[in-house]
Amino acid sequence: MTDHYAVIGNPISHSKSPIIHTEFAKQTGQNLDYIAKEVPLDNLASGLQELQQNGFKGINITVPFKEQAWQLVSNKSGHAQRAGAINTIIFNDDGSLSGDNTDGIGLCRDLSINNQIELKGKRLLLLGAGGAARGVIEPLLKYHPASLFIANRTASKAINLSTLFADFGNVEGGGYDALSGSFDVIINATAASLSGEVPPLPDAILTPNTVCYDMMYSNVDTAFIAWAKQRGVAKTIDGLGMLVEQAAEAFRLWRGIQPETETVITLIRQLNKS
Ligand code: ATR
Repeated sequence: MTDHYAVIGNPISHSKSPIIHTEFAKQTGQNLDYIAKEVPLDNLASGLQELQQNGFKGINITVPFKEQAWQLVSNKSGHAQRAGAINTIIFNDDGSLSGDNTDGIGLCRDLSINNQIELKGKRLLLLGAGGAARGVIEPLLKYHPASLFIANRTASKAINLSTLFADFGNVEGGGYDALSGSFDVIINATAASLSGEVPPLPDAILTPNTVCYDMMYSNVDTAFIAWAKQRGVAKTIDGLGMLVEQAAEAFRLWRGIQPETETVITLIRQLNKS
């Protein structure tokens, strides 16, 4: 029997998740299908209910529903509970729902395994304090960086997040004007790339060895990646690897099998070129 899964978001037509999960299923011999479903902005609860009633086994949640979904699902992993946002739901056989957030694991695996970037002992800068940023703070701190600074346009949101995660490591928050010194790894979790903008970042935060990572992924360089390249940083990385890695972790939660990611990252990169 074929098990059904879906990603829900709005808009959703450009989602790569159906291709990614179909590849994982082929690779691991799992009998499942995976669709992308657009849900009206004010109708997440009934969208979820409909999929559950139709026998779906699990759902991925994407923009802009991750924080709303967190509110609707009461049974969450500890990490997802603190993150305030979920991207993966399991419809359990007893009718209950479980929620998790695999974005942080996806980001950290892409940085540390796929790109061989050391996080331990490094100075990290996270740009943004919305749903995308919240999901990655605890996983990043678990790699024991020397420090993590969260910078956001609305400084109070970054400061609040730094307080919320203070027990996991050396974390501070503030506005862009509070940035001082340079960073080893800078991660863009703002929505600024969506509008082709870059947060107001001083060049002094960069060194020739700085790695710049944009959690956004598109066929052409995002504004943040272009900004970093213009300034000659050591390495820039877009969010495709994170996208595939967060999907792999969701697949593992649903199916109990860890899929291989490298060939899928390469496949999607090639599909987008053609
Ligand atoms: P998401 O779930 O994608 O994180 P969000 O919760 O709306 O979406 O958060 C968007 C993030 O991008 C916020 O950190 C936002 O800054 P504010 O909290 O000050 O609103 C940030 N952001 C959006 N557009 C931006 C821009 N043009 N320049 C800088 N930051 C921006």
